[in-house]
This record gives sequence, C-alpha cells and structure tokens, in this order.
Amino acid sequence: MPRSKGPIGASAEAPDSVCDGALTMPRNLDPEASLAQEVAADSDPRSSRQWSSAQRLASLGRLAAGVAHEINNPLAYVLGSVELLERALQEIGGLHLGAERTEQIIVGAQASLQNAKEGVERIRTIVRDLTAYSRAAPSSRRPVDVEAVLDATLQLAWNEVRHRARVIKAFVGAPLLLADEARLSQVFLNLLLNAAQAIPDGRQGVIRISTVSEGGKVAVSVEDDGIGITPEDLPYVFEPFFSTHGASAGSGLSLAICRNVVTDLGGTITVTSEPDVGSRFTVTLQAAAASSASDVGNRAGSRERVTNRARILIIDDEPLLGQTLRFAFQDRHDVDVAASGREALERLTTDADYDLVLCDLMMPDVSGEHVYRAVRDRTPGLLPRFVFMTGGAFTERAQEFLAHFDGRQLEKPFNIDEVESLLSEISAAGAA
Ligand SMILES: Nc1ncnc2c1ncn2[C@@H]1O[C@H](COP(=O)(O)OP(=O)(O)OP(=O)(O)O)[C@@H](O)[C@H]1O
Ligand SMILES: [Mg+2]
Repeated sequence: MPRSKGPIGASAEAPDSVCDGALTMPRNLDPEASLAQEVAADSDPRSSRQWSSAQRLASLGRLAAGVAHEINNPLAYVLGSVELLERALQEIGGLHLGAERTEQIIVGAQASLQNAKEGVERIRTIVRDLTAYSRAAPSSRRPVDVEAVLDATLQLAWNEVRHRARVIKAFVGAPLLLADEARLSQVFLNLLLNAAQAIPDGRQGVIRISTVSEGGKVAVSVEDDGIGITPEDLPYVFEPFFSTHGASAGSGLSLAICRNVVTDLGGTITVTSEPDVGSRFTVTLQAAAASSASDVGNRAGSRERVTNRARILIIDDEPLLGQTLRFAFQDRHDVDVAASGREALERLTTDADYDLVLCDLMMPDVSGEHVYRAVRDRTPGLLPRFVFMTGGAFTERAQEFLAHFDGRQLEKPFNIDEVESLLSEISAAGAA
C-alpha cells in the first residue's frame, strides 16, 4: 500500500469522553499489580476483594483462554508456513524441475520462512508481555522508525482488516522513537484488530492510522468509525479481562497488554470514543534524542557480522536448543555443545579458549551459577565472554543470583543476530 504523508486533520466529530489508559484505575485491580498479586489478593484478610475460589478459577480460566488466543494466531501461521516449506522441499527433492519452477518454489519457501519467523517473534513477544505481569520484564529501548513499524504491523493485520475497512494512513515522517520494536508492533496490532472488530458486519468502515510529532513526542492514533464504546464501559477498557466480545471471542487482555507495554516504555495510551461514531486510541511516546541517531549507527555497527571464525561453547541441557544453535552457527563459527553443567566443567578444564560461552542458568545437575563460579575461580579471563541464557521460571536462589550478577545476559528465546551482536560487542570490548 502506498504510504501517504501529510498532517492528521483534527476529527470534526471529536468524541467527547476521554479515558487515559495510563491513569485509569481498573475496577478490581491496581493496574500495576502483578498477576501473582492479583490472584493472591483475596488471601489477604484485610483485602476488600474477597474473591471466591470459583471466581479465582474463572479468572485463571480467562487468563488461560487469553494466552491461548494470543498465541494461537501466530502459531497458526507458523504451522501453516512450516508445512508449506516442507511441501516445497519435497517438491524440489522428488522431481527434476525446470529452473523456473525451482526458483518459484524457492521464492515461496523464503516467504514462508519469513512468515514463520514473524510468528515465532510474535509468540516470543507475547510470552515476554505475560511475564511482565509477574515481574518487571526489561524492554530493550532503541531508536525505532514508528511509521515503518506501523506499515509492517498493518501487513500482519491485513487479513483481518481488509474485509472490514478501508485504511487511511496520515504519516508526518515522525522522528525515531525510543522503544522496543516488537512490543510496539504488538500494541499497534492489538489496536488495529480492535478497530477492525469494531466495524459492524455488512458495512465497509474506515480505519485511520496517523502520526503527529510535537514537543519531542510522537503520538500515534488508530481511529475507527465503528460501534464506539459506551461512557459506562470506557473507564474499564484497559482493565485485564474486560471484554464485550463474549467469552469465546475476546479475552479482554489486548488493551491491558497495550497499556503495560506503553507505560513500560514511559508513554501513555488514551482513548476517546462515542457510541455509533467511533473510537480513537492514541499512543504517545518520547522521541529519541537527536544524538541517538548515532545510536542507530552504533547499533548497525554492532550488528555487523564478525568476519573471523569465533569459537563458541554452548552449555544447555535442552538437546534441541544445543543442536539448533550448532546448526545456526557452524558455517561461520566453531561450535561446541555441552549438554550439562558437568560436561561443560570437564571441557573447560582442558580447554577454555572460547570467544563466547553461552550458558543456561537453570540446569538440573550442575547449575549455570556453579559453572560461572568455577570459571571465575579457574579461568577469570573468560568471564567477559561468559553469557547467561535466561528465561522462564527461576528458583529463588537463581533470582537472587541474577539480581547481583552484573555480567551479560541473553534472554531466551533469542535471534541468531542477537548472538552475532554479542560476539561483535565482546570482540570490540576485548580490542578496546
Ligand atoms: N476500537 C474499539 N471500538 C469499540 N470498542 C473497543 C475498541 N477497542 C476496544 N474496545 C472495547 O474494549 C474491550 C477490551 O478490548 P481488548 O482488546 O482488551 O479485549 P477484546 O478485544 O475483548 O479481547 P482480546 O483480548 O481478544 O483482544 C473490548 O471488548 C471492547 O469492548
Ligand atoms: Mg481486542
């Protein structure tokens, strides 16, 4: 779709009720309360929220349904893409195809791979957002071209949107934002899907996506001419589990996740709406400082592939992860895999000459912490190249250890590029 530029016009029929997602207190919960706190709230005898266990179970059920809903969509296109890829490879392997057909298949396979990757990235983001309910998940903020993110997100939502609405884009060429690109994309995806769902069946609606840049801030609005939100419902739309879509259709988590992500990025999300006229959601975030243009350069620099072969040791008790990382890097680097902390210790006793050690934290026999301490005592020179792979549930001990650990961490799941960036950073730090 062409990318239209131009200032956003003020809405002639500006809806009158306004609700700020960053400020609105949900009905039942403190908006910042973790899920764990929420579930535990009724066990506090001083709490006025004396939820019955049936209510608590219902709430957990809605959460489970919500998680399933959020993950099932990307999972569907990951699975579909992988199946297409499988068929493409079968076709290439089984027949003597002409060059033209082979090229067609390869182009299709590349597109499937790209889609599968996007799906997996989305699942990763969802899992990160869910963990944000129970702990303060760090979001990586980098200068991001918000209009490019909007374009890419619109592509993802296109299937849902195109049957229901015409999309108008009014982009001003907004400055870069300091944000986490994947999480920002998730916010816009949720807003676009909601906007599409707000258009009643049987009529073509209009969704307007616009950017405004003012006073060092960038505001992104997603506006629809759908059914709107009643003044009674408006204060609650950012509340977890608030949904008017019915139990089977909506989990009521999307806007709660949006609010979490946006406030985590230091921004605000607001809504104005009027029944039968439409709704407008606006996300406002700080623009990146001018100096951060150089950050982009630095970032690009740090993403450059290391040209020399590096020696990498992967320590993980999950065999498939070890195998995948070996496949991913073996063309460019020399990769050793240790399937347990014990095996890693044995290997490091005889050979500690690695450019990068990627070590799982939670392993059953000898933990990552144990391996780290052994490295610190025996081969301290390796420490700057020792990186913990973290993710998932932690034991209290591991949590405490990480809280005081000031070395490098790589949150699972990660991209190949992130490991390449790490290698570049480490080699640059070593050279400095
Ligand atoms: N653009 C919109 N127009 C009208 N109502 C909206 C719009 N966006 C959100 N809402 C209202 O806010 C509620 C909460 O939205 P939210 O996206 O969090 O949950 P949901 O759409 O019901 O379910 P899901 O979590 O699956 O997206 C919706 O059920 C709907 O009532
Ligand atoms: Mg929704």
